[in-house]
Amino acid sequence: MSGDKKKFRSSAWYGPANMGGFIHRSWMRNQGLPSHVFDGRPVIGICNTKSEFNPCNAHFDDIAEHVKRGVWEAGGFPVDFPVMSLGEVTYRPTAMLFRNLAAMEVEESIRGQPVDGVILLVGCDKTTPSLLMGAASCDVPTLAISGGPMLNGRYRGELIGSGTHVWKFSEAVKAGKMTVDEFMNAEAAMSRSPGHCMTMGTASSMACMVEALGVGMPENAAIPAADSRRGTLAHMAGQRIVRMVEEDLKISKILTREAFENAIRLNGAIGGSTNAVIHLIALAGRIGVELTLDDWDRLGCDVPTVVNLMPSGEYLMEDFYYAGGLPVVIRMLGEAGLLHKDALTVNGHSIWENNKDAQNYNTGVIFPWDKPLTDKGGIAVLRGNLAPDGAVLKPSAASPELMKHRGRAVVFENIEDYHARIADPELDIDETCVMVLKNCGPRGYPGMAEVGNMGLPPKVLEKGITDMVRVSDARMSGTAYGTVVLHTAPEAAAGGPLALVRNGDMVELDVPGRRLHLDVTDAELAERRAAWSPPEPPMAGGYQKLYFDHVLQADRGADLDFLVGKRGADIPRESH
Ligand code: FES
Repeated sequence: MSGDKKKFRSSAWYGPANMGGFIHRSWMRNQGLPSHVFDGRPVIGICNTKSEFNPCNAHFDDIAEHVKRGVWEAGGFPVDFPVMSLGEVTYRPTAMLFRNLAAMEVEESIRGQPVDGVILLVGCDKTTPSLLMGAASCDVPTLAISGGPMLNGRYRGELIGSGTHVWKFSEAVKAGKMTVDEFMNAEAAMSRSPGHCMTMGTASSMACMVEALGVGMPENAAIPAADSRRGTLAHMAGQRIVRMVEEDLKISKILTREAFENAIRLNGAIGGSTNAVIHLIALAGRIGVELTLDDWDRLGCDVPTVVNLMPSGEYLMEDFYYAGGLPVVIRMLGEAGLLHKDALTVNGHSIWENNKDAQNYNTGVIFPWDKPLTDKGGIAVLRGNLAPDGAVLKPSAASPELMKHRGRAVVFENIEDYHARIADPELDIDETCVMVLKNCGPRGYPGMAEVGNMGLPPKVLEKGITDMVRVSDARMSGTAYGTVVLHTAPEAAAGGPLALVRNGDMVELDVPGRRLHLDVTDAELAERRAAWSPPEPPMAGGYQKLYFDHVLQADRGADLDFLVGKRGADIPRESH
């Protein structure tokens, strides 16, 4: 390097004319790289979650190629590297158990390698938060690209949505309204292109969060994976990350308190997943922004949902893109006075500059602000003696008539107990009961599985009833629906009051009053607590033991306690 040219982080690897520099350059040159790529230009890591076990991200090598074109064109040096890819439908016991492990890998991969700026290729549910969390702890210039949703599912002339129709079809089979053959035929019709779930589930919600936080390019959320414009976006992102490195535009300048507030409100307007609550709290913790459950209720709960997408509405992400996509919703938030308009985004412009001229091309998909799909779309945070540290419920996915309900508890000690007994005709349950599921929280499952929307008993479904109040310490798939109280904290396995509920206790849910109450005296609860003993870790060693010992509760984002915070990209010691 010569003159006053800016030195980047990677120059510590590729700059020196000594043995260390020789080693770093020479081994890289076995890939056919000419000497001039080591001339001090920004090295752009492409953090790639491509995996054939993770079908939602299986097309990511193609996106990486588009990114590389943009990086080369802008004078950078792109280097693609793999990180753990969490496929939601494949990983057992649940992908969420490994979100923090993947984040740890991303953090150390960025810090330990000559990365000046990083492109995060994200898609399937946990890949978005894990990569953002890892990058945030390093605080280098960062730009996230979502892989895009699958094309609309279609079966026998009907739109079918990822996840949402799995629940619907499965209940239709149980209720005798759909044959098993029809059920099997619907498989291929649902997932018919590259991309992630195309309902407004967790993956789409998190893709919207990427755009709303400003850490992704405009239009990031909705362009289908199969649409050529996804490649164009990746190309332009590749160009832009090089400029971000030159401008030293670190992720901490994007992920501000204002950005998180924008994202929370946006999640209400799109009818987004309850999982976004946990992931954004965890991400905020990494970057040093204080974000709590109460912020979600205070900022988001009264925001109307205007996006008519499953599971709350009728359409799918492809329709959302053609209607104008997330820019329309961001413009509406701005016009309603609910947007921090000056929040900076990765393209160097404010969120308002990027979206103020967005057009709505289909008011059946994106409803007008004053005629929304749901008046109060966000997340309601409930507290009471059953959830001293909070629990959440998504009103737009719930039944209005159950928002205030008192019912007899039918308790399942864990998900295996639920599966063993739910179809038993002798089970003492009817539609007025409250189904209570324990030991499915961060420590209990472990990994806080998406089982909170447990299916109703067949004998209730057969009556044509499709919803009951359910309470658990679990999460729920963003594609699911129902009057489902989730993330109850502290969880049962951590000794929360949920552990003490017994069959026959009366449970009161009052969503307007934000209350979740167990109608049992304090003295009785103290007696039950004295008889309670904590569970053993799932494994005696390995990552699962580390996780069990250190995971925080849902209200704190379920990160590992020692991973909270920003540690930067400095390396304590050089190897060569
Ligand atoms: Fe990957 Fe839904 S299973 S996004």
